[in-house]
Amino acid sequence: MSTEHSVIADSISRTYYVGEPVHALDGVTLELPAGSFTAVMGPSGSGKSTLLNMLGCLDTIDEGTLTIHGRDVGDMSERERAMFRSTELGFVFQAFYLMPRLRAWENVSLPLLFGEAPTDGRRARAERMLDRVGVGDRIDHLPNELSGGQRQRVAIARALVNEPRLLLADEPTGNLDTKTGASIMELFTELHVEGTSVVLVTHERYIAEYAEQVVHMVDGRITEIEPLGEVGR
Ligand SMILES: Nc1ncnc2c1ncn2[C@@H]1O[C@H](COP(=O)(O)OP(=O)(O)OP(=O)(O)O)[C@@H](O)[C@H]1O
Ligand SMILES: [Mg+2]
Repeated sequence: MSTEHSVIADSISRTYYVGEPVHALDGVTLELPAGSFTAVMGPSGSGKSTLLNMLGCLDTIDEGTLTIHGRDVGDMSERERAMFRSTELGFVFQAFYLMPRLRAWENVSLPLLFGEAPTDGRRARAERMLDRVGVGDRIDHLPNELSGGQRQRVAIARALVNEPRLLLADEPTGNLDTKTGASIMELFTELHVEGTSVVLVTHERYIAEYAEQVVHMVDGRITEIEPLGEVGR
């Protein structure tokens, strides 16, 4: 189903019960237009990763309504959610999470095992994606034979291989030096310009400034949505 909104979150909450209840998300309302580019900032423990995990259907909300690409994801079965994740969403994490014994192209082709059967070979598709993110000359390398920036590019290629409409990234530049981080942000900017919706969590102001808007969080709530203007600087 097509929709002009990528994400509509209406008063979503998530409480964790480990000892004292923690209101990790406490009534968050947020609308993200399709194709938008959003950064999420806030102190440690403010609920940024929790929000991203909810948008990514990696965990479920306790209260409120969450609609992604026109689908009420709170209403889905576990199986429906898994299928939705693999076809509509892509994830990138700070720690890359590549499989250490798999070559770059094998890591990238992993999500193809769970999605629809590809029309062409898995390797060819993985190669195209690695080429797209700038590591087409590293397809047969193992993760420990790659630099940090190259590893993150492989992880991004893996997130993109099923052509998700929404890309979620939790501190994707957190383990990278400034220059490599900037090159990863240029890649996200390109994906945004091509029409992918991007939401990324960061602690760094200069990283957030690549986005169109910054969502500021404190104690599980949004305190401000700060517009930044046009992307493509
Ligand atoms: N699976 C969980 N079980 C219990 N508590 C959790 C869980 N996940 C998060 N929390 C708690 O929810 C709150 C928000 O955590 P979250 O990871 O979303 O913060 P964050 O803003 O991403 O922080 P950081 O910048 O340090 O990554 C924290 O107090 C955390 O301890
Ligand atoms: Mg976090």
